[in-house]
Amino acid sequence: MQIISSAAAIKQQTEQIRSSGKTIGLVPTMGALHEGHLQLLRTAAQENSVAVCSIFVNPTQFNNAEDFKLYPRLLEADAQLLKENNCQVLFAPAVAEMYTEALQLKFDFGALETVMEGQFRPGHFTGVAAVVSKLFHLIKPHKAYFGQKDLQQFAIINRLVTDLSFDLELVCHPIVREPDGLAMSSRNRRLAPDEREVATHLYKALQLAAQTLPHQSVPEVKTAVINYLAQYEPIRLEYFEIADALTLQPVSNLQSKRNTALCIAAYVGEVRLIDNLVIAG
Ligand code: PAJ
Repeated sequence: MQIISSAAAIKQQTEQIRSSGKTIGLVPTMGALHEGHLQLLRTAAQENSVAVCSIFVNPTQFNNAEDFKLYPRLLEADAQLLKENNCQVLFAPAVAEMYTEALQLKFDFGALETVMEGQFRPGHFTGVAAVVSKLFHLIKPHKAYFGQKDLQQFAIINRLVTDLSFDLELVCHPIVREPDGLAMSSRNRRLAPDEREVATHLYKALQLAAQTLPHQSVPEVKTAVINYLAQYEPIRLEYFEIADALTLQPVSNLQSKRNTALCIAAYVGEVRLIDNLVIAG
């Protein structure tokens, strides 16, 4: 596996791969890799001649300086995992390499970012869209792989690709979970043992909502979720939303023909976690 840290070098290397007729699958990440990331990578390696993974803790998408500072950085261990999972190129740039100047551009994704993550993390999706655009320009992948875990992020990137005519195919990979249901996340490493134990109730709350939604109104289901999570002291719910899975706009009743997304964000201790469950319409 090649490890590249300069923007000029990754551009040159991926140009060479493309001109030899090979296809490139890109998995953008912020590192502290877990099985969720690795499933994306293995799919990319299966579906393309070359799998490229990027690891970059992107400062412009953090609206909380402490969260950026505490984000786990484990480049050596990550590189080893990537090697073992058929990654051929790792792009791990420094901040100055990706941002030669401070980012000025702001993205506005309209209604798509006025809800949930966009509402609670102002500026977050501008940072995501900026860094993903940079990676697409540098690497020019044939396919790019993202997880359903970040459902709203996927919708935003889908919009980005459509509106800016990026010539690539996006793939959305299902959520990979721990055996007890907790969605895998790099931030899970920051949970204390007692917090890790109660964190599983986020997914249990989503399951509870999915079971009751056909029989109860949206406000009733929301109240049930709030009351359920209130039992667990380290959990502070930020939002629980019932939304159209494509537009991510809140819905007031279960729609029969469209997929519905149950989305949750909560602090467990000091660690902010998100999860979602999509109910087929
Ligand atoms: P990161 O949180 O490292 O996630 C990288 C990719 O892995 C994302 O597409 C995310 O949705 C996916 N992923 C994370 N946990 C997953 C899980 N449990 N199951 C399935 N997929 C999972 O998302 C980012 O980084 C950044 O915002 C990024 C897109 C790299 C831009 O900086």
